[in-house]
Amino acid sequence: MRTLLVIPTLVSAAALASQVTDYAPKANVECPDLSTAPLIRTFTPQNQTVHPAEEEYVTTRKNTVIASAWVDWLGNGSALGYDLTNFNASDFPTVGFAIPGGGLRAAQYGAGVIQALDARNSSAKAIGTGGLLQVASYITGLSGGSWVTGSLLFNNWPTINDLVFGNGEDLSGWLLDLPFASPDGDNVLSELNQDFYGSILWSIIAKNDQGVDTSITDPWSRMISYHFLNQTSRQNFFTNDTGHGAGQLWSEIPLIPAYQSFMVPFPIVVADSRPSGSNLTTVLPLDSVVYEITPLELASYDPFLSSGMNLTFAGTQLVNGRSTTGSSCVTGFDQAGFVMGSSASLFNQILDFAHNTISQFSQNDGNALLYLLNRQLTDIRTRADDVANWPNPFQGQQTDTFQDTNATWLELIDGSSNQENIPYGPLLVKARGVDVIVTLEGSADDPVNNWPNGTSLIFTALRQQQFLQSSHKTFPPTPSTPDDFISTGVNARPTFFGCDPTASEDFPLVIYLPNAPPLSGIDPVTNTATFQLTYTQLHTHLFLDQVYNNIVSGFTPNSSAADPNWGKCLQCAAFDRGRSKAIPSILRSSFCSQCFKQYCFDPSNPPSKAELPNRKLVFVDPDPQGLTKVELFFDDNKFKLLGGFIGLVGFIALLAIGLIIYKKRHQKISKYHKIQEPLNHNLVYEELSYTPHTDMYKMDILNHST
Ligand SMILES: *[C@@H]1O[C@H](CO)[C@@H](O)[C@H](O)[C@H]1NC(C)=O
Ligand SMILES: *[C@@H]1O[C@H](CO)[C@@H](O)[C@H](O)[C@H]1NC(C)=O
Ligand SMILES: *[C@@H]1O[C@H](CO)[C@@H](O)[C@H](O)[C@H]1NC(C)=O
Ligand SMILES: *[C@@H]1O[C@H](CO)[C@@H](O)[C@H](O)[C@H]1NC(C)=O
Ligand SMILES: *[C@@H]1O[C@H](CO)[C@@H](O)[C@H](O)[C@H]1NC(C)=O
Ligand SMILES: *[C@@H]1O[C@H](CO)[C@@H](O)[C@H](O)[C@H]1NC(C)=O
Ligand SMILES: *[C@@H]1O[C@H](CO)[C@@H](O)[C@H](O)[C@H]1NC(C)=O
Ligand SMILES: *[C@@H]1O[C@H](CO)[C@@H](O)[C@H](O)[C@H]1NC(C)=O
Ligand SMILES: *[C@@H]1O[C@H](CO)[C@@H](O)[C@H](O)[C@H]1NC(C)=O
Ligand SMILES: *[C@@H]1O[C@H](CO)[C@@H](O)[C@H](O)[C@H]1NC(C)=O
Ligand SMILES: *[C@@H]1O[C@H](CO)[C@@H](O)[C@H](O)[C@H]1NC(C)=O
Repeated sequence: MRTLLVIPTLVSAAALASQVTDYAPKANVECPDLSTAPLIRTFTPQNQTVHPAEEEYVTTRKNTVIASAWVDWLGNGSALGYDLTNFNASDFPTVGFAIPGGGLRAAQYGAGVIQALDARNSSAKAIGTGGLLQVASYITGLSGGSWVTGSLLFNNWPTINDLVFGNGEDLSGWLLDLPFASPDGDNVLSELNQDFYGSILWSIIAKNDQGVDTSITDPWSRMISYHFLNQTSRQNFFTNDTGHGAGQLWSEIPLIPAYQSFMVPFPIVVADSRPSGSNLTTVLPLDSVVYEITPLELASYDPFLSSGMNLTFAGTQLVNGRSTTGSSCVTGFDQAGFVMGSSASLFNQILDFAHNTISQFSQNDGNALLYLLNRQLTDIRTRADDVANWPNPFQGQQTDTFQDTNATWLELIDGSSNQENIPYGPLLVKARGVDVIVTLEGSADDPVNNWPNGTSLIFTALRQQQFLQSSHKTFPPTPSTPDDFISTGVNARPTFFGCDPTASEDFPLVIYLPNAPPLSGIDPVTNTATFQLTYTQLHTHLFLDQVYNNIVSGFTPNSSAADPNWGKCLQCAAFDRGRSKAIPSILRSSFCSQCFKQYCFDPSNPPSKAELPNRKLVFVDPDPQGLTKVELFFDDNKFKLLGGFIGLVGFIALLAIGLIIYKKRHQKISKYHKIQEPLNHNLVYEELSYTPHTDMYKMDILNHST
């Protein structure tokens, strides 16, 4: 183990002083000397590199923490039929976790799976599944999956129980029973809700005052922060006592103690981009650039771009690597909430400004409130209010292939917008050499029952084939259509894809752990809708328990029983690529071969869903009483997921107000303030610093409805 170099004083001092206005980036920071310390890193697919600090982190963790975690998990290997002393630590496979999107369902699903794979959970450890988390080198998150990833990091990597439910001390839990958008309940005009909106708007105005374009993604990002970052408790929810996560930066993840001691997989969040200025509201074509955000960079390994931008300065517009405002740069743009919000910015597809509708919700369920909101929104459509606006640092890069080479702003949107809902991309990047991808598959593809049907894997394979062959590894063979995923049953029980790579095709082994009906045959509570933005505490408890039980059980063909060998079979899969790396390579053990017969997808001999008897597909609300208060508000509304609906409506109400303010402010400040003389910093800060315009917070929705 390396000596731990912890710098807690810096971080906690910042936390104490934090305010919601810390959401504002700092414009007019002096740029580093770009001739000696460039902010842009470029490479080619043929000469692909990861950031040197990523390489260093991953290598150090692998040789220290992970090397002993393998031994802790597999012992000497004898139970699997191997002798671990025959393997060098550097031969152990490189493992990545991928957590897809799907709002709070996906976040809770990801959490439940992590719990079942975490060596810190003694029951999971005893079963043999607990330990896989500890050997992971990477963790990627997309949309709802980025929330659990970010939450784990910014709370210093606690156990899932502590993270989600609180520990009675410094962790307050996710508080999912407080609706995202109207935490004080359905009346958006209540005093507490108005306090909440006031705080959120205060953050956004502070950002806008720095001359940085805001959008619908900003209030969304702040709401995410209240639940997933660490300064919000039930007691302080409606106060301005803390910054509620404002000022916590993705680029400061390397200061977090668990990161400093190499305890965490290297985290990566995925967001898509729509071509700037295209106003696209449909699914994206597969050739639109996909970005990743690491603690080090905003980057894309797509051959179209092959570049990374120093994340600390990611708010800066650069042309050919130079700041457009001379020596002036922007820092503090990479707010943790905004990174998670960008990855989950799905508004361009659900808000149809032209027709005043919100898809996913039937027009009949609309009501006076929705009507008012629609009227407000009509007036305030501007360039890119429905995306996450990131200043484009890549102007002038890859002029032949990069779609936004001339754009001043990147328009980032939900990572699932190109139908790749699972963040596989970063884990297929050749330079990362990931051997095993654990998929915490919480997608809801099936439009009726919200189960996954393989859509995401199919699109990832297609995108790689069409555009990424030079830069990304091939995706292993899977069933080729959603219908085949369903009829083979591989979407409803743990499955290993790509068990036997050929000499010509070096694909990773994918351990696919889909959200699936409980194998015990009880009613499922985990297949909730993406737009459900409220969960009772009871529901969350039952949700996580159900996921945990499935993940520690594996499956037994033609039976509802758990597989007693599953823990070891999972170990076989995680370890398998190590055999071929050893010199001389080692044969698969007979125990592991037996496991692979049951769990590997063999395209020439596909399994059948008939082997999964007694599974119930239809969601049953485990806590129907929990929504009573909400039901009173729209008493004749039959919409099942009312909590989510009201949450979303209230949320949009807030956005409407926010956008009006945004527009007003925007007319005054449309560009970064430029300073050519770095000497005047303090002076300039003072001029720019925020002074509250209290009249703006007092606005209520009705005043602006006409
Ligand atoms: C690969 O890229 C690195 C970093 O840009 C550069 O230093 C090196 O010369 C390149 N090598 C080749 C063979 O292009
Ligand atoms: C491996 O460990 C098992 C149990 O922990 C023990 O029984 C066995 O002797 C060990 N094998 C070797 C080769 O050390
Ligand atoms: C371990 O690595 C060393 C140095 O690369 C090599 O000499 C040795 O053969 C390797 N051992 C095994 C079991 O692969
Ligand atoms: C392990 O996870 C289960 C399921 O969520 C939970 O009930 C249990 O308390 C956990 N155990 C520990 C030691 O965290
Ligand atoms: C919460 O975040 C602050 C600011 O990043 C940090 O100082 C503090 O240690 C965090 N608390 C926990 C429990 O991780
Ligand atoms: C927090 O500050 C904002 C902006 O001044 C205000 O609108 C809101 O009411 C405040 N909340 C409380 C509880 O004072
Ligand atoms: C996108 O919308 C803006 C604002 O309405 C408009 O000026 C622009 O022409 C639109 N772009 C395209 C490609 O339609
Ligand atoms: C970003 O730039 C600063 C200033 O040059 C440098 O200190 C820092 O290491 C860079 N960060 C990364 C991730 O490259
Ligand atoms: C960028 O602008 C240049 C000069 O106007 C033009 O030739 C080029 O086609 C543009 N590239 C893209 C991708 O729009
Ligand atoms: C599979 O999921 C997609 C959405 O991801 C959906 O459009 C399609 O109808 C589903 N197909 C089947 C057969 O369930
Ligand atoms: C499951 O049952 C089916 C039908 O009875 C049979 O064809 C199949 O071989 C069984 N599968 C296993 C693994 O026993």
